[in-house]
Amino acid sequence: MGEPKQVTVTVDGKQVTVPEGTTVLQACEKAGSPVPFYCYHPGLSIAGNCRICLVEIASTPKPQIACYTPAAEGMVVSTTSDKALKARQDVLEFLLINHPLDCPVCDQAGECWLQDYYMQHGLYDPKFNETKIKKPKAIPIGPTVMLDAERCILCSRCVRFTDEITKTGEFGIFNRGDHSEIGLHPGKQLVNQYSGNVVDICPVGALTDRDFRFKCRVWYLGSTDSVCPGCSRGCNIQIHDNRERDWRPHIAGGERVMRLKPRYNPDVNQWWMCDEGRYGYKFIDHNRLAHVQLKKDGDVHEGTWDEALGRVSETLARMREAKQLDQAGVILSSHLTNEDLYVAKRVFGGLGVKQVVFQRPPSGTSDNLLIQADKSPNARGAQALGIAEGAGGLIEKALKKELRLLFVFTQDLVPLAGEEQVASIAKNLELLVFQGTNRNRTAELAHVVLPSSVYAEKDGTFTNFQGRIQRIRAALTPWGESKPDWQILCELAARLSLDVAFADAAGIFAELSQREAAFKGLTYHVIGAQGALLKQ
Ligand code: SF4
Ligand code: FES
Repeated sequence: MGEPKQVTVTVDGKQVTVPEGTTVLQACEKAGSPVPFYCYHPGLSIAGNCRICLVEIASTPKPQIACYTPAAEGMVVSTTSDKALKARQDVLEFLLINHPLDCPVCDQAGECWLQDYYMQHGLYDPKFNETKIKKPKAIPIGPTVMLDAERCILCSRCVRFTDEITKTGEFGIFNRGDHSEIGLHPGKQLVNQYSGNVVDICPVGALTDRDFRFKCRVWYLGSTDSVCPGCSRGCNIQIHDNRERDWRPHIAGGERVMRLKPRYNPDVNQWWMCDEGRYGYKFIDHNRLAHVQLKKDGDVHEGTWDEALGRVSETLARMREAKQLDQAGVILSSHLTNEDLYVAKRVFGGLGVKQVVFQRPPSGTSDNLLIQADKSPNARGAQALGIAEGAGGLIEKALKKELRLLFVFTQDLVPLAGEEQVASIAKNLELLVFQGTNRNRTAELAHVVLPSSVYAEKDGTFTNFQGRIQRIRAALTPWGESKPDWQILCELAARLSLDVAFADAAGIFAELSQREAAFKGLTYHVIGAQGALLKQ
């Protein structure tokens, strides 16, 4: 197969060359004259039914839809001629004839393509004086999505998503003419594992997210590019947090993260993400470990970082002195970033602790679209850093009283080893340290608890199952007294007179990429927005 043939078209007086088969819509985009669209979506088949993308093409009598017309050699397109503008204005008026115009109470306000395009292409004097057709409003159509059929413009994006992407076929368009209505096939509920995506692709307020609706007006949302930590796919996301809290905390309530949205990455998740990842953000603002905790004579009390790190470093220093570090073990987690793992490797390696492993959480389900069975974001990164896998050996040793100190990161050991075993491990050990983000049984049993920041509160990188290194960024300030794992480790290193000091995650990655073969030559800049592959 050779290169595709190129065609040259003129858009608003500017020539662009595109591969044969490119649509006029894409050619216009390339020429810097984007045309509006509703039904067109680059991840779905072309429906060509909303008509908002009309443009004028020389030597054709009527305006043509840009999303369905292939660009042809010598074509002359106008996106701004009077004919094209009038045609689009008429389409908008037509789309809004039976629309309820309930923008003040619609949760889509601020990110509604009807609002946006009306301001850009509408601004007509309405001529419609009849009674509008009424359709069902605010109908829950499954656990995640609410349907308001009156607001629907029948673009069929949701129908095509459930037909072509999830292949679950829940949606259909029923009835005829102005009674046409979006809905679910009889007896169906929208319960597939990717249902939240229909909210993202619905350009209007017909499909809204039951989890998000009325929590926060979208113009108060901050947005930070990150990566979902829900499984080893590492879908690219945006974290939307409530910035209204900063100046009206009494109105906006306590939760900081309002929703997650998928971010386009052709090599990882395209435009989509699964519901488990999308709605799995609650742990960020709930059940967090906010304070350093110390246990003395069976009683837990809040302590200071100084006390806690003092206790951990004194025990480690004593063991180093007495050459007992073969009785120390470290269980890292595949939820930690590459930067956290690298610093852990340097600190514990520098001390002389040999038994350092990482542990994944229990496996879950997978599918052929995005969902991976490994429910952690960075097992591949831990492997690439040469860290051995599996906490089983250390748990066994701790049960046989062959360990004096165990340092556990992030994960609860109870699902792995069982409640009774973990309780006897805590009893057997001189020191059980838990460094993690959320409360769990291991944290309750630990002698020292060091609160750490969740992925949304720190910078760093994860390596997904494909070996793609991707950046996460701090969207929020660390919860309570928590700190990024690498920072806690650097503070511990200073107390143990180890030369491991970093000011930020970028500095760690700069060193890591020089010293670790799999990461050679990579920088945050090279990783960019779409990630970069490991060198293996
Ligand atoms: Fe399009 Fe939204 Fe209507 Fe579905 S509900 S057809 S996505 S406007
Ligand atoms: Fe072209 Fe809808 S975007 S017809």
